[in-house]
Amino acid sequence: SHIAITELLKGTVAVDSQVTIKGWIRTRRDSKAGISFLAVHDGSCFDPIQAVVPNSLNNYDEVTSLTAGCSVKVTGVLVQSEGTGQSYEIQANSVEVLGWVENPDTYPMSAKRHSIEYLREHAHLRPRTNVIGAVTRVRNCLSQALHRFFHEQGYMWISTPIITASDCEGAGEMFRVSTLDMNNLPRTDKGDVDYSEDFFGKEAFLTVSGQLNGETYASAMSKIYTFGPTFRAENSNTSRHLAEFWMVEPEVAFADLDDVANLAESMLKYVFNAVLTERRDDMEFFAQRIEKTAISRLEEFVEKDFAQVDYTDAITILEQCGKKFEFPVKWGVDLQSEHERYLAEEHFKSPVVIKNYPRDIKAFYMRQNEDGKTVAAMDVVAPGIGEIIGGSQREERLDVLDARLEEMGLNKEDYSWYRDLRKYGSVPHSGFGLGFERLVAYVTGMGNVRDVIAFPRTKGSATY
Ligand code: 4AD
Ligand code: MG
Repeated sequence: SHIAITELLKGTVAVDSQVTIKGWIRTRRDSKAGISFLAVHDGSCFDPIQAVVPNSLNNYDEVTSLTAGCSVKVTGVLVQSEGTGQSYEIQANSVEVLGWVENPDTYPMSAKRHSIEYLREHAHLRPRTNVIGAVTRVRNCLSQALHRFFHEQGYMWISTPIITASDCEGAGEMFRVSTLDMNNLPRTDKGDVDYSEDFFGKEAFLTVSGQLNGETYASAMSKIYTFGPTFRAENSNTSRHLAEFWMVEPEVAFADLDDVANLAESMLKYVFNAVLTERRDDMEFFAQRIEKTAISRLEEFVEKDFAQVDYTDAITILEQCGKKFEFPVKWGVDLQSEHERYLAEEHFKSPVVIKNYPRDIKAFYMRQNEDGKTVAAMDVVAPGIGEIIGGSQREERLDVLDARLEEMGLNKEDYSWYRDLRKYGSVPHSGFGLGFERLVAYVTGMGNVRDVIAFPRTKGSATY
């Protein structure tokens, strides 16, 4: 059997012991003295390990034909490295080639760096690069830390459905799920598509959010969260939007907006701490190559309170800051990315929780405030990326909810299961959704959410 390279570089394996690794060649360098140096990586940590191969090996010729991307099994003695930069290396006494690169000229991985756009088109290559390898480990660390955080706080992980009949956000950005023959659609007398003949007997879609289902379980289990894929047929072709992205959605019974604003802050600090300690190697790479402040800003933000501001006060700040925005601000408008970023980057210089938005720009389920103009909504906005979390206290009063559904032209019947929660032991409850790719993009400093998900889906692009 073999051992992960991270275990060897951590220094937990005794020097002078015999070890076996399996991985892929990153680089090979041959010395005139008859030694070949192989840098081998296996994805378990940022650094490759160096295997020092003497020409006394009977397949030395084979070793000196290895190119980037070949897979190998190396056995040898673990020794302290004398070279700089590397703590340990392997004095190889056997190198077995597991897989050749058929034609090295067609394997476009060399010392030269590829653009991140180029990599998106080359599925086999992408995860073998330094940058995507580091993103993948940080992403994994963040998702494990999120599960750990909620588990430690007594939350139950609920798997909400991917196929749904409800449009949670009411934005009409849903992908349809159907087994109807598009070339021969059944029609009603009126000429509309007859979805009663469809698989589910009605219209069905990919979910935009697990929230409504999450509320059902929070109304029984008290503290739940979802963590799963969500889908939006949004027309926004930006560096912050995906058609398929992952969301983490805690939903908490007996909690108000302030409770979940605090939950969001402690959750983010918990996962920032996790990457700072568990993925130091990758974070150092991001700080060197992608975003200078990748480490320092996380260190700063785990130490201090996030800023909190009411929407109304945020508007005043933006009106009075003297900066020209592309979208002019006045009370009642939705905040655009440029406004959010001004608040986080220039005004507060920290993540900021913006609360109590105008009701007219928000979803039907948000709880109305006493002033009749605003709802108990919040967004968490981070420097460098903008909105990463959206949440609210939910409207738990049936009469107020019904009035709102009616006002927005939504069909009460469609929401009967959701309205039932307000009829049988209704309680104040609140929750939020964290856009997982936005979090990973923020933590790593990667400029585009497409580069922090394994297989990005965006408008006009679903390669492989
Ligand atoms: O603000 P949103 O639309 O809120 C909801 O869906 C609520 N139902 C959540 C809840 O209260 N349980 O989306 C939540 C977060 C956003 O803050 C953003 O980070 C992310 O999801 N998000 C996207 N991320 C990538 N691509 C997209 N197209 C996204 N749309 C939203
Ligand atoms: Mg939002």
